[in-house]
This record gives sequence, structure tokens and C-alpha cells, in this order.
Amino acid sequence: MSAFRFLTAGESHGQTLGVTVEGVPAGLPLTADDLQVDLARRQRGYGRGARQTIERDRADIVAGVRHGLTLGSPILLLVANRDWENWTRVMQVEPLDTAAAEELAALAGDGNKRAAPVTRVRPGHADLAGALKYGFNDVRNVLERASARETAARVAAGGIARAFLRELGIEAWSFTAEVGGVAVDPANTTRPRDEADASPLRCPDPDAEERMIARIDEARSNGDTIGGVFEVVVHGLPIGLGSYVHWDRRLDAALAAAVMSINIVKGVEFGLGFEQTRRFGSAVHDVIGGRGDGGRWVHRTNNAGGLTGGVTNGEPLVVRGAVKPISTLARPLPSADLISGEAVEKAHYERSDISVVPAAGVVGEAMVMLTLATFVLEKFGGDTMDDVRASVARYRERIAQVPETPVAGARRHGLVGSDEASSGGDD
Ligand SMILES: Cc1cc2nc3c(=O)[nH]c(=O)nc-3n(C[C@H](O)[C@H](O)[C@H](O)COP(=O)(O)O)c2cc1C
Repeated sequence: MSAFRFLTAGESHGQTLGVTVEGVPAGLPLTADDLQVDLARRQRGYGRGARQTIERDRADIVAGVRHGLTLGSPILLLVANRDWENWTRVMQVEPLDTAAAEELAALAGDGNKRAAPVTRVRPGHADLAGALKYGFNDVRNVLERASARETAARVAAGGIARAFLRELGIEAWSFTAEVGGVAVDPANTTRPRDEADASPLRCPDPDAEERMIARIDEARSNGDTIGGVFEVVVHGLPIGLGSYVHWDRRLDAALAAAVMSINIVKGVEFGLGFEQTRRFGSAVHDVIGGRGDGGRWVHRTNNAGGLTGGVTNGEPLVVRGAVKPISTLARPLPSADLISGEAVEKAHYERSDISVVPAAGVVGEAMVMLTLATFVLEKFGGDTMDDVRASVARYRERIAQVPETPVAGARRHGLVGSDEASSGGDD
């Protein structure tokens, strides 16, 4: 069983999203305001659509916290969909009685798009495969759950992971690294983190941001959409999270799966990523500089993005997610009808964003933090925050120590802190 897990529920235009988070130790200070910050960040960003003017996401903590402290029991968060008020009949949970069915049919007959079943499947969405897989003749049953509205619940859960990691000195943030082929110039990332976070695209390079905005405007004026790349950076991780001993204990693999799970992400890189394949090894591998201040190990560069052998190496973690252009175009692509199987001129159009790289970055942060929280708890365990803090402190102390000089043929591994270290004595 995973040490820290979460499960979301909810449809895009249903009454509410929900998420249960399990495995959070007792004694973590937590309020709804703590979760608010990231939820608001997910809603922002130049290129978002009208939905964000309707929603004011807030996660209500309805279980697992008492008097501002976690109880160690499952935490249940609810994020209401304000837009639900416009969809009550279309999305109602109870069976449709005759009167309600007639009302819905009349709305559809009057040209109300919400009320009409969706059959013109949209390219780039789960519509076709989902409808066939689950046996639906109305694609709304697919798109309501496949929609990235669900990521609001993930970001709420990520807020808990953030509060947990922060207690241990671990901090994550993200920024927009690229939009439509315009990339941040590392030599021109002049904005400090707070300023970058508040900018229209959450971008540290003001010049690049201007050109990124122009690309989004270009897409908008053509009824088109555009993608990009976000980068998540995490500071304060101890060396040794994850393991090289088995594939499913590698932290890089778990993080790649977590970031890849975001609806819209089509690739994941760590550090230099695919660029490594174009260089000689001498221009890729991070030279180990030795033990620095306070016993901390340092590398001269961080091309690996903080992970080697699936294990954190003490450098900042750097993960990038490739965001495809939004699938729903204001000028819809041709497609086909689910029922007739015939080609149609225009796919179904559902109100949509044009570009979501900054928002996807916030979801990326959440997925990274949730994954790190799992690995931290697996390594350091603990039913209470005090237990976890003490265990992390003990570990940090141990790895800062100088190991015993090894002796060839010694029958012990020289474990630091063990009285018998490298004694060579019999078992
Ligand atoms: C924050 C966020 C907002 C999104 N908004 C939209 C949107 O308005 N319209 C759209 O077509 N896709 C949107 N997407 C992406 C789709 O949900 C996603 O492309 C689709 O479900 C298909 O999944 P896939 O891209 O993983 O194959 C959004 C994704 C994220 C992360």
C-alpha cells in the first residue's frame, strides 16, 4: 500500500469535485486558505477561456482535520463547480422523470447546446475511444470526466502535499519555459520568483513572455490553439529519495508517470532531457564537486535535473512537461459523427481555452509534490509530523557524516553510525 495516496471524483459541470487524500501524518497544520493559493494560480494565465471568469475555486476541508491540525485520518476536500448552476438539469444525478425528460428535450429542440446530446466527436479528446469503450451514445458522458476540470481537485490535494513538504524544508514552484516555439532565455530570466509568478504567463523572462503572448494572440485570431513547455523546480530534497534497486522504486519513473498523467502533457524531461542525446558525454554528466559546507555534496552542474539512478542526488529537481496545443479549436476541425459514422465538417465545440501552459505548470507542481510526499513518507514513515521531522533530521545528519575508510576484505559495509562499522568482525 502506498504511504500517501489520493483519489479524485467529479464531472466538469457536476455539482462538485472531490478528493480524498490518505496517509497524511497527524499534526500537520492545515487550513482551507493554505489550499487556496495554488487553486487561484491554476485558474490564471494569459490564454484561458471564459470558464475561469465563472469559477472561484475554493477547497472546503470536510474531513480529516480538527482545529487546524490533521488527524492522520483520510482528508476529504470538496471543490464546488459554480458553473453547475447552469447545468443542473443536464447533469442531474437522479433519474430523469417524464417532466424533466420533456424539459430537457424541449431545451435541446430550442437549440440549447448544453441540452443536446453530443455525437460529433472532437479530435484530440477522449471522446471517440471513451464512448466506444464505455458504450455511450452521448459523448457528454465521456467529456465531463475526461475534462481537465478534474485537475482542480489534484491541485487541492497538491496543496496538502505542499504543506507537508514545506515542514521539511522542501519547496516546489514552476514557470512557463516555452510557448509555441518561443523559449525562455536562461541568460534573461531577470524576474525574481514572486514577480514571475504574478506575470501573465508566469514567466521569468519578460522579453520571451512578450513574444509568447504574441503567439497566443496569433492562435486566437486564427481560431486556433497553441502549446508549450512548463518547468517544475524543487529545492531542499535530501539525497537518497527513490531507489535504483527496482524499477518501481525509481523516483524518476514515478515522477514521469505523474506528470504524464496530466490531461494535455505529451512528454516529460528531467534536466537537459532529450538535449543530452545531442551532446558528447563530457558535456552532459555533472561533475561531482565534493563535500561542501555542512557536509552537503555538490555537483558543478545540474544537467541530470537532480536525479541519478532514479535517486535524488542533492541538486534541485528539474522536471519539464510538454503541453500540446488545446484540442478544442474555436474554428473546429473536421471530424465524424459517432452514430452515423459519417464525416462531418465541424467537430462539436465546447467553450475552451486557447493556451494553458501556466495552468498546466501548476498542475505539474501538484503532481510532483504528491509524488514526492509519497516517497518521503515511504522513506521516513511516521504517524505524526514530529516522527517524520525527527526521522528526516536523523537521516540528514547521517549523510552529512564522513564514512569510515573502507578496508579491503572487511566483512561489514561500514555503515555510518554503527559501532561495528568496518570492524571486519564475525557475524
Ligand atoms: C489546466 C488545463 C486546462 C485545459 N483546458 C482545456 C480546454 O479548455 N479545452 C480543451 O480542449 N482541452 C483542455 N485541456 C486539455 C484536455 O483536457 C486534454 O487535452 C484532453 O482531455 C485529452 O487528453 P490528452 O491531451 O491527455 O490526450 C486542458 C488541460 C489542462 C491541464
